Amino acid sequence: MLKLNINYLKGSLTEDEIAYKKAAAMTAEQLLTSKTGPGNDFLGWVDLPVNYDEAEFDRIKKAAAKISSHSEVLIVVGIGGSYLGARAVIELLKSPLYNNLPKKTPEIYYLGNGLNPTALNEVLQILGDRDFSVNIISKSGTTTEPALAFRILREKLEQKYGTDGMKDRIFATTDAKKGTLKELSDAEGYETFVVPDDIGGRYSVLTAVGLLPIACAGCDIDKLMAGAKAAMEDTSKPYEQNDCYKYAALRNIFYSKGKSVELMVSYDPAYAMMSEWFKQLYGESEGKDSKGLFPASVTFSTDLHSLGQFVQDGSKIIFETVIDIKKPKSDCFLKDDPKNLDGLNFLTGQNMSDVNRKAFLGTILAHTEGGVPNIVLEMDTVDEENVGYLIYFFEKACAISGYMLGVNPFDQPGVESYKKNMFALLGKPGYENLKKELETKIS
Ligand code: PA5
Repeated sequence: MLKLNINYLKGSLTEDEIAYKKAAAMTAEQLLTSKTGPGNDFLGWVDLPVNYDEAEFDRIKKAAAKISSHSEVLIVVGIGGSYLGARAVIELLKSPLYNNLPKKTPEIYYLGNGLNPTALNEVLQILGDRDFSVNIISKSGTTTEPALAFRILREKLEQKYGTDGMKDRIFATTDAKKGTLKELSDAEGYETFVVPDDIGGRYSVLTAVGLLPIACAGCDIDKLMAGAKAAMEDTSKPYEQNDCYKYAALRNIFYSKGKSVELMVSYDPAYAMMSEWFKQLYGESEGKDSKGLFPASVTFSTDLHSLGQFVQDGSKIIFETVIDIKKPKSDCFLKDDPKNLDGLNFLTGQNMSDVNRKAFLGTILAHTEGGVPNIVLEMDTVDEENVGYLIYFFEKACAISGYMLGVNPFDQPGVESYKKNMFALLGKPGYENLKKELETKIS
């Protein structure tokens, strides 16, 4: 369902180099499967496709049906790993224009993923007086961005539905036992879903974190999990037949050859949020100890008219990973125009997907000629199975790649630095000394 194509790497590396990386990949695999590597208490995602809470899975489907039955709008509140995966899957499977297209499921908006008041007010304006529900997602239950948005939404829910009515419209996805959100939900009687202890935010899309919003959008979560299960099987194969390990190895090879940026490329704007999810997964997993590839992304052909110049001719710090979706969800046939005033009749009789494909081929040839290596990952089509497969493939490749790099792929110590400063500057109790110190530095 996701197949590695290395044909466009000729000239940038040899197949022998990939073979030489087998030992390193196997060492990484051993750390992962024996659960002896750094971060080994966050490996719950590894067998999640065959080992998940089926009772909760059913509750997710029921909650999604309930939300669809009584809400025109669902607001998903969360940040980072507590929101990116759901949004990525919904936009890829449905559309980035999901909210504007005809459908039987609720519109979905995302809040609590930043602190900009205008962005929040605009969603509230779009919501208007319509019936809505809220899915608040926070593993720690204390993250400022979602907690703030949730406070505002609770007030709105209370005004509209009263204290009892609002309970029917709040769905909290959080830790099974601890944290402010868990305590609040238990005290107020909200339905709760679990972020398992052993699954970190960025690896959590196939838990209730992602599955509830995804099910609300009308996607088939059974098929999504089936795709992930297929990937779990395929990515356990020996190195020679394991595209996931080879992809991790290729990243490692390019890193050691001086590339510092992996550019995720797609030719489908519906993939853009999936690239955002990918960037968090790889950026947060590998960017530490002064190491790691910087994950970036583009949508072509759109960005060929902006960043394309840099990719082709700029600093040689980039390699590309191109998602090649073989069959788009829909197509557009180009008819003959007898006047041909626009000179486009040479395209007559083709589908627009053929034109997009020629752009893909033309670009890949130009970029590889220009010294920018292109890894290609081929995906048959966009459906739940393929997307579930892709998610698991990237998760496992990330873990293997992180261990090959020699970092803990499951922590994120660097994320705390801005939080400490922000809390101090906001006057949060306990941060008084840091506040004084920081204020002397602000001009
Ligand atoms: O991947 C991660 O761990 C982070 O992106 C978290 O998901 C993000 O910071 C949100 O944390 P929480 O779910 O605790 O609110």
